[in-house]
Amino acid sequence: MADTIYVLNGPNLNLLGLREPEIYGPDTLDDIAARLEERASELGARVEMRQSNHEGHLVDWLHEAQGEGARAVILNAGALTHTSLALYDAIRAIKVPVIEVHLSNPHAREAYRHKSYVAMAAKGTIAGLGALGYELALEAALRLPPAG
Ligand code: DQA
Repeated sequence: MADTIYVLNGPNLNLLGLREPEIYGPDTLDDIAARLEERASELGARVEMRQSNHEGHLVDWLHEAQGEGARAVILNAGALTHTSLALYDAIRAIKVPVIEVHLSNPHAREAYRHKSYVAMAAKGTIAGLGALGYELALEAALRLPPAG
């Protein structure tokens, strides 16, 4: 079966394209999904793209990624990045590697965006490269050793 990469998006990312485009860029989440699906099929993989404004959905989907034997998770947790001990624990609880992605560079922004609970548990982080970051994360995900 093709490698599956879960791509999980948190609060407000459903508004991409409309939401502060000077910070987050012009692409919608559907635009990003279409490019990821195309790139994944070129690489012999598939993506499972999801978005929720609710923390618990993201926790459940991290558990599901583990249960379904996903190759990796790409996670843009939005503002939950900076607050969610539950996401930190969920990432620690699974063996599937998690790659944190942000469209903007939180370290170049307000001080309250500098702390990331996701980064403390993730394999690595790609930030500040806009929508391209998701594609780079997909390529990285497929080059990581599969979880043991
Ligand atoms: C974001 C950065 C977060 O600080 C912010 O709350 C978001 C989007 C990004 O992709 O740049 O919602 O995760």
